[in-house]
Amino acid sequence: MKKVAVIWSSPNADGLTATAKNQFVKGLIGAGADVEEIHLNKKVLEHCKACGNGWGTCNKNGTCLIQDDFEDIYKVIADADGIVWISAVYWSDMTECFKAFFDRLRRCDATRNHFLADKRCVLMACAGGTGRGSLECLTQLERGLNHMGMRVYDRISVVRYNKDYILPALESAGATYAKTLDAGFDMYY
Ligand SMILES: Cc1cc2nc3c(=O)[nH]c(=O)nc-3n(C[C@H](O)[C@H](O)[C@H](O)COP(=O)(O)O)c2cc1C
Repeated sequence: MKKVAVIWSSPNADGLTATAKNQFVKGLIGAGADVEEIHLNKKVLEHCKACGNGWGTCNKNGTCLIQDDFEDIYKVIADADGIVWISAVYWSDMTECFKAFFDRLRRCDATRNHFLADKRCVLMACAGGTGRGSLECLTQLERGLNHMGMRVYDRISVVRYNKDYILPALESAGATYAKTLDAGFDMYY
């Protein structure tokens, strides 16, 4: 059974982002995946202090000096076979909370640990306003994942205007990702 970490961020426990996440998770579980969800907004996560004039312990030994929930979440992700990254769209980008975590993860993983390299991920951006910015958010997420050597299997944009047909499809998307983790990815990169 493959382990899948679902990392998501929105302050709303029952908004568009949470609904999209729940649909995807339903599909993952239905296809037999072992799912661990991490709701970043419920965690204690400081932003990077750029200590040591820019590089702190992150690029020296792959750890962050700040004592909060960061290291525990990092362990879950490093241990997972698959990772689903889901953020509400704020300012055409990931949420501030997501960014705080992602920045520190990139510093530790891209420069030193490489625990996440080659993991195949799914990205989801949930834009409940105009819908503008969901693609930029996905692009920003993918840029960070690429720095860490991860690869994107699918990029999903959920907006107010497509939710009636996208939300039902997300269950099937979750099942497909779980099955592909089992069967192996047909990706040349
Ligand atoms: C600070 C802030 C910035 C936002 N920026 C955007 C945006 O750029 N594009 C958009 O479509 N919606 C934007 N929204 C709306 C969120 O995407 C919307 O709240 C969305 O539904 C998030 O999911 P939720 O239902 O889980 O909160 C913004 C909301 C906030 C609070």
